[in-house]
Amino acid sequence: MRPIQVFDDKMEGSKAIARHIAHLVKRRREEHKPVVLGLATGSTPIGVYEELVRIHKNEGLSFEHVITFNLDEYYPMRPSSQQSYSWFMHHHLFNHIDVPAQNIHIPDGALAKNHIPAFCRGYEAAIKNAGGIDLQLLGIGRTGHIGFNEPPVSADSITRLVSLHPITIEDAARNFGGISFTPTEAITMGISTIMQAREIVIAGWGPNKAAIIKKAIEANIDEQIPASYLQTHASVKWVLDKEAAAELSEMTEHADA
Ligand code: PGA
Repeated sequence: MRPIQVFDDKMEGSKAIARHIAHLVKRRREEHKPVVLGLATGSTPIGVYEELVRIHKNEGLSFEHVITFNLDEYYPMRPSSQQSYSWFMHHHLFNHIDVPAQNIHIPDGALAKNHIPAFCRGYEAAIKNAGGIDLQLLGIGRTGHIGFNEPPVSADSITRLVSLHPITIEDAARNFGGISFTPTEAITMGISTIMQAREIVIAGWGPNKAAIIKKAIEANIDEQIPASYLQTHASVKWVLDKEAAAELSEMTEHADA
């Protein structure tokens, strides 16, 4: 995949990402090796998961050797709640494929607060013990966050409890029936955790993401733009639809020509 790929719409982009992930999963299966996927939630990856489920069902792709680590979870949050990212992942992906339950890792939003630091250290250790993340899938929030790493965030941040940005709370409120019911904290992998993935695929769809995507790709690396840290990663691919790519210089030049 090229560093920035622009598709006509999110369906096409989602299919390309799913195909890329499916190739990796298949190759590792043929090599009799596990594969570690870092997974994201939110509206962005839904089409990717739909397509992976289709490939599993129609083409027989097995996920038995796949180990997953999700980026984040709201806090506090019961995993059984329909608003949890645990529920989201089972609903959109895990319930429909053959990934073993013991291979699935999602930050636990139901912990007592004093147990969170040890849980986060364990999460980092579990990623390392699994051999590190082969491919990390990301979306980007309007704040520039990846995972729930809101600005300002340091490059050496690891899995921890964080406060959500007001814009992120506003965006999440529609799923919680209003701002006053929306969690204000989350457990998230850090920038350092994400940057250690061997390969990163970050997707963005629609006009609401165009301005922050331009900053993340074209502005200087800045703790105020968490996704800008990706500029230093050796293997990162941006997969965008036309609307999300609309403000990139290359696109604007193209449109003016
Ligand atoms: P979205 O969120 O996929 O719902 O747009 C992306 C993100 O906040 O990372």
